[in-house]
Amino acid sequence: MALQGKHIVIGISGGIAVYKVCKVVRLLKKLGAEVDVIMTEHATEFVSPLTFETLSNRPVVTDMFARGGHWEVEHISLAKKADLFLVAPATANIIGKYANGIADDMLSTTLMATTAPVVVCPAMNVNMYHSPAFTANLRTLIERGVHVVRAESGDLACGDVGEGRMAEPETIADYCQRLLCAGRDLEGKRVLVTCGATCERLDDVRYITNFSSGKMGSAIVDAALARGAQVTVIAGRHTAPIDSRATVIDVDTTAQMYEETVSRVAEHDIYILAGAPCDYRPEQVSDSKIKSDTLTVHFVKNPDIARRVGEIKKGYLCIFAAETEDGVAHAREKLVRKHADLAVMNDVKHHDVFGSDTDTVTLLTAESEREYPEMSKRDVADLILDKAIGR
Ligand SMILES: Cc1cc2nc3c(=O)[nH]c(=O)nc-3n(C[C@H](O)[C@H](O)[C@H](O)COP(=O)(O)O)c2cc1C
Repeated sequence: MALQGKHIVIGISGGIAVYKVCKVVRLLKKLGAEVDVIMTEHATEFVSPLTFETLSNRPVVTDMFARGGHWEVEHISLAKKADLFLVAPATANIIGKYANGIADDMLSTTLMATTAPVVVCPAMNVNMYHSPAFTANLRTLIERGVHVVRAESGDLACGDVGEGRMAEPETIADYCQRLLCAGRDLEGKRVLVTCGATCERLDDVRYITNFSSGKMGSAIVDAALARGAQVTVIAGRHTAPIDSRATVIDVDTTAQMYEETVSRVAEHDIYILAGAPCDYRPEQVSDSKIKSDTLTVHFVKNPDIARRVGEIKKGYLCIFAAETEDGVAHAREKLVRKHADLAVMNDVKHHDVFGSDTDTVTLLTAESEREYPEMSKRDVADLILDKAIGR
């Protein structure tokens, strides 16, 4: 029983998909989890609390001010007990309240009080799902590290067709299991990560670089450490903090990033090249400040880190491809040319990638290609690590 000893609080808000959560409770109980259910008043209009009491074998909580004859402050004790807090279905209303700090009933108050990982499963009409208000609220939650099991596309209860149907119970239960059990599945693995931007000097005071913030690399470091890996980071310039439990080697130029990365390939099992090395460097570096009215700089190509790692790797190689057009075709060409196992393609023309806490990626392997909806960089990191260990 994979979830034995785990305590999951399920918050149910008032949408038509409430009936699907009966199966989520059953699946999580079957996996061994202890489940407590909180329902909003509107949720009880759809399915009776009695159904969830029977399925969870626990009293269902709806009222903040109910007198239960015991002296715990219920919303705080549930918030503290939770190893995971699942909100399904998550109405536009509860997402809006959670994003904006409104605590006016049992569910919204407990949600604000918990420090457990939170997973929300939105479900609503397609127009509500694409509304600017909902989109902004969901983005706020993602940026705060809330996990989202995206709604699916299809026929909606209201008769419309499109995105907004709550994910299937099996998908939701799998997601919870993955989060709670991911635990130490990289124990004994050594992960080498490149992160941030390199710089190439023009003269004593100037350099060229790129927009990389290092947030993706930093998220990979966090995820790999959380899953028990030993992590080495070859770090260019970055604004995102890097966890001090990782071994960090600071570099400036692409040549340095190349040397420090390539020389460590043999000692590592997984290589995730999330760094943004400058592909070119000025052929001449002036040893004093350039003062001319016009300036022509001749650039030469830098060594290709991913290609060299691909030639000598003894483990799993993940590369990144930030593309502005024909992204998938370019990423596939890179995947093959650099002998990589996985390419993560970012469409930097249509999505804000640099400095953002979220990402919209397409993952390519030799056999597959899949575009994912916008998610937190931390979720992208876990997705990459899942692939690296064959999940
Ligand atoms: C039949 C019916 C179905 C509804 N389905 C949804 C839904 O799927 N998603 C949603 O966000 N709101 C839905 N609503 C509207 C919510 O119930 C309403 O916004 C309510 O205020 C939500 O309250 P709660 O979030 O506290 O449960 C539905 C309302 C009705 C009457």
